[in-house]
Amino acid sequence: MTRLPTPIRRDNPFGADVTELRPGFASPTMNRLVVISNRVPLPSNGPRAGGLAVALDGLMEKRGGLWFGWSGTVSPTAAQDGVTVSRTGGVDYATTDLTAEEHDRYYNGFSNAVLWPLLHSMPDLIQYDRTDAQIYRDVNARLAREVQGLIGPDDLVWVHDYHLLPLPAALRASGVSNPIGFFLHIPFCAPDVLESVPDMGELLTGLLASDLIGFQTDTDMSNFAASAVQFAGATRLPGNTLQVQGRRVLLGVFPVEIDAHEFAAQAEANARKLPVVRLKQSLPGQTLVLGLDRLDPTKGLVQRISGLRRLLETQPQWKRRMTLLQVAAISRKEVGSYRNLKAALDRESGSLNADFGEPDWLPLRMISHGVDRATAAGFMRTARVGLVTPLRDGMNLVAKEFVAAQNPNDPGVLILSRFAGAAQQLDAALLVNPHDTDAMAEAMATAMTMKLGERRERWQSLWGAIEYRTPVAWGRLFLASLLRGAVRGRLELVSDDQQMMANAG
Ligand code: F6P
Repeated sequence: MTRLPTPIRRDNPFGADVTELRPGFASPTMNRLVVISNRVPLPSNGPRAGGLAVALDGLMEKRGGLWFGWSGTVSPTAAQDGVTVSRTGGVDYATTDLTAEEHDRYYNGFSNAVLWPLLHSMPDLIQYDRTDAQIYRDVNARLAREVQGLIGPDDLVWVHDYHLLPLPAALRASGVSNPIGFFLHIPFCAPDVLESVPDMGELLTGLLASDLIGFQTDTDMSNFAASAVQFAGATRLPGNTLQVQGRRVLLGVFPVEIDAHEFAAQAEANARKLPVVRLKQSLPGQTLVLGLDRLDPTKGLVQRISGLRRLLETQPQWKRRMTLLQVAAISRKEVGSYRNLKAALDRESGSLNADFGEPDWLPLRMISHGVDRATAAGFMRTARVGLVTPLRDGMNLVAKEFVAAQNPNDPGVLILSRFAGAAQQLDAALLVNPHDTDAMAEAMATAMTMKLGERRERWQSLWGAIEYRTPVAWGRLFLASLLRGAVRGRLELVSDDQQMMANAG
């Protein structure tokens, strides 16, 4: 006779006793964390900005663990060289190289020329190639084989982002039975957009080998759930749960956070440092409007320049009284749409300055190299207006950073795209549609003339939305939910089996 585990308590499914599953899986703080992401912020490469690193660095520093992914290096012998492990603090960084072909087809090709525009609902930018799709799957299979030997029996595995959609299934195929969580840092498009790329059903099936899948917003989660039903044969169950191939997968919304207090202190300290003082001195009598982005088609940079052009056409009194400093840090420059965007931005910014500039004043300063996070924090504190107007964005941590950086007594104004995930939380910003050029121009004028009382009121509300949240708490919540998802899915499955046996008997 088969001995069946104790049935779950139906009245409290989340309270099921996890120790029945495996003694080690009792608490998210007891198990080692294995993070897997395409890029690994190796300490030897210096501090790395970007949503994923900002979100995970603090958590890994606090609880330690293993961080596995691409080294950032391209090497002809990558596929044979295996994994390099180095330890800093409590974190083991395990990295693998990519071959030039893998880099070109898995990273530039399928990840950034297909999945990135697709999931940001910009299908016209997709450059699909069947070989890229195959190499994307092959790289995921190789990563799974390389990391599986590093995963201990009681580890929690947390996979990140669109580069690694098939990885959960590839890990299962390599024999990993640990709880697997997946977090998507970017948006998830609607099912009819998803159909633009062949075989997305297969990729979703791979992702559904996870126990918990996390998203930035409710919209992303419901788009995913609808797509999983339509293309991967999943069925919806109550409580944000999907059933697929006899397994249960929990879905959840976990907006990524920043450490607002830490960033505020960094901004205050850096506002007095030389690069910020020099910027201020270069803008006598002018209002600083600031944009800080990667040079990316999703960020709405061309639309931003159009908004500024419209402002100067319709309200010429702003000439000589304002400057837009736009940092558009070069990124993914081997991808065609990024190269085209760079050319368009150079053209548009040159023609704006030529049309409206004066011998001693230019409306726009466009910079295509990044600034470090500390200097950026100081710039944000100095700016009267923060322009964060992506066409689509998973979250956009710059919006949260801009709020945190402000002087509470004399805060600047955030102009935020309705299409950034951050707009769900930061609804006291001036919310705009970046495609509406007149609205962009009006929002800039409104922000630059807003009275202190309204600026303070809006800022208080924005600060209230971020001040008690941290990336560490975000990570802990995800991991606690992962344990609950893994335990609940498995015990309910056992309980379904019991039901079947009871019916058969
Ligand atoms: O989630 C998107 C993201 O991974 C961010 O974390 C980061 O800002 C950016 O993309 C980095 O892109 P890449 O690794 O291609 O340079």
